[in-house]
Amino acid sequence: MHIKTATLNGVLHIEIARPEKKNALTQAMYTAMAEALHGAQEDKAVRAVLISGQPGIFTSGNDIEDFMQRPPGQGGSGDLDSPVFRFMLALLDCDKPVVAAVTGGAIGIGTTMLLHCDFVYVSDEARLAMPFVGLGLVPEYASSLVLPALMGQRRAAEKLLLGDPITPEQAVEFGIANAVLPASEVLNHARRVAERFNALPPGAVREAKQLMRGPLRDDILATIRREGEIFARRLRSPEAMEAFQAFFQKRKPDFSKF
Ligand code: COA
Repeated sequence: MHIKTATLNGVLHIEIARPEKKNALTQAMYTAMAEALHGAQEDKAVRAVLISGQPGIFTSGNDIEDFMQRPPGQGGSGDLDSPVFRFMLALLDCDKPVVAAVTGGAIGIGTTMLLHCDFVYVSDEARLAMPFVGLGLVPEYASSLVLPALMGQRRAAEKLLLGDPITPEQAVEFGIANAVLPASEVLNHARRVAERFNALPPGAVREAKQLMRGPLRDDILATIRREGEIFARRLRSPEAMEAFQAFFQKRKPDFSKF
C-alpha cells in the first residue's frame, strides 16, 4: 500500500510511501488519504494528524499517467465525488489540526495541499513548485485564491504562471511554512508539534480551527470547483498531452505549434 497510516500518542500519521515513483499520487492513494482523514475525524483518540512523505520527496504531485488515463473531474464542477476532490474536501474540512513534514520535493498538489494544513515544517532540502501552467493546466486546490492573498499578486505570478520553485526560506517568508529545519529533524519536530494537542482541550481546538477557517471556507470551496472545471477541460487539451508525453519521453515540451 502506498499510503501508510498509524496512530501513535494521539497522532494519526499519514505517510505517502511510493518512493519508486517519487510519491506520485494515484486515485487509490487520494482515496486512502481521504478515508484516513475521515477516520481521524471520528476517532476520539486522534488529537492531530501528521502528513509526511519519504526522505528527499514529499510528493511529486498527481500521477501524470493517471492524469492521462483516468483524468478526474469528468463530471465538471459537480464531480466532487472523484478521489482527488474527496481528498481535497477531507483535508479542507478536517477539524483536527493537521501538521505537514516536508522533507524534499513537493510538486503540484504536494505544495497546494500545504495551504490547507495548519502547520508546515520544511527541510532545508525541500523544493516546492506548482508547474501547472507548464503542464498545460491551471492552478488547483484554491491556490489561485490563497497564494496571491498570502504572497501578493506579483510573487504569486512567478510561482503560478512561470512555475518558479519556492525555496524553504521563501516558504517561511511567504507564510506557507512555519519553519525550516535540518532534514533529519523535520519529521520528529512535526510529530512533537502534533503531540502537543494531547494536552489541549479538543473541543476548543476544533472550534478555534473552524473559526480560523470559517470566513474563507466557502470562497475556497467555490474556487476549488471553478478551478476543477477548467483543470478537467485542460487535462484533455493538446497542450497538456504534449506536456505529459514530453515528461515520459524525458524531453522538453514543444509548445511552438499552439
Ligand atoms: N507522475 C508519474 N510518474 C512520476 C511522477 C508523476 N508526477 N513523478 C515522478 N514520476 C516517476 C518518473 O516517471 C520515474 O519513473 P521511471 O523510473 O519509471 O522512469 C520515477 O518516478 C522517478 O522520477 P524521475 O523524474 O526520474 O526522478 P528525479 O529525481 O529526476 O526528479 C521530480 C524528481 C519530482 C523533480 C520529477 O520526477 C518530476 O518533475 N516529476 C513530475 C512532477 C509534476 O509535474 N507533477 C505534476 C504536478 S501537477
